[in-house]
Amino acid sequence: MRPKALIAANWKMNKLPSEVSAWVRDLKDALTGKVLNADLAICAPYPHLPALVEAVRRTAIRPGAQDVSAHKAGAYTGEVAAAMLQDVGVELVIIGHSERRQYHQESDTLINAKLQRLQEHGLVPILCIGETITEREAGMTEQIVLGQLTACLQGISLKLAAELIIAYEPVWAIGTGKTATAEDAQEVCGAIRTTLLKLYPTLAEGIRILYGGSMKPDNAAELLSQPDINGGLVGGASLEVASYLGIAEGA
Ligand code: 13P
Repeated sequence: MRPKALIAANWKMNKLPSEVSAWVRDLKDALTGKVLNADLAICAPYPHLPALVEAVRRTAIRPGAQDVSAHKAGAYTGEVAAAMLQDVGVELVIIGHSERRQYHQESDTLINAKLQRLQEHGLVPILCIGETITEREAGMTEQIVLGQLTACLQGISLKLAAELIIAYEPVWAIGTGKTATAEDAQEVCGAIRTTLLKLYPTLAEGIRILYGGSMKPDNAAELLSQPDINGGLVGGASLEVASYLGIAEGA
């Protein structure tokens, strides 16, 4: 069964903790009287999380974080453990974002360890994969993306489709205003689905595959109408309530 769309905001390193509750209140006000065909989630920086969890309580908006440590606990200065995120009330966690891979040299092996930590605490990973422009121009898109997918999912078993979310984010489309065409995005997301069918034959159809990369209200509907695109992971356009909601209305 095709999963309901999920529009997940990735605020990246933006906003202040003190701004969270007013923003969520504005979103809730804007949602009054609307019926969306999408679920909503907000992935915020660590210091924002207590305020975010509180602000979305008793709503269908799911609170998320943007990373997690690969370690369980101990002497890892600056790291945040999955147990801490669970304790705060977070439900979803982005892992493997290209900005982490690029600026922090994160490998598929490390991301696989992070995924295991999340599973130990019942947190849902939003696993990001995607090719660079050089890789795309070399005709290596599927090789790179599917390679990341299988390496990050090595040894990972699932009981339910809802325990895993994939985000296909072509690196060249992130923050650049260059969106993948709906056909290009579908082609890769379709290949991701085919790989998921091999890994999790009974669950793959229900696993959400999100698209991310310059998603905006004016391109969301076409992307979200593709058969293997089940939502979006939205950076820049998720910072304003109006554009975030505009994307969700495209589902
Ligand atoms: P933009 O929507 O700003 O391109 O960012 C996409 C992204 O990286 C979401 O994780």
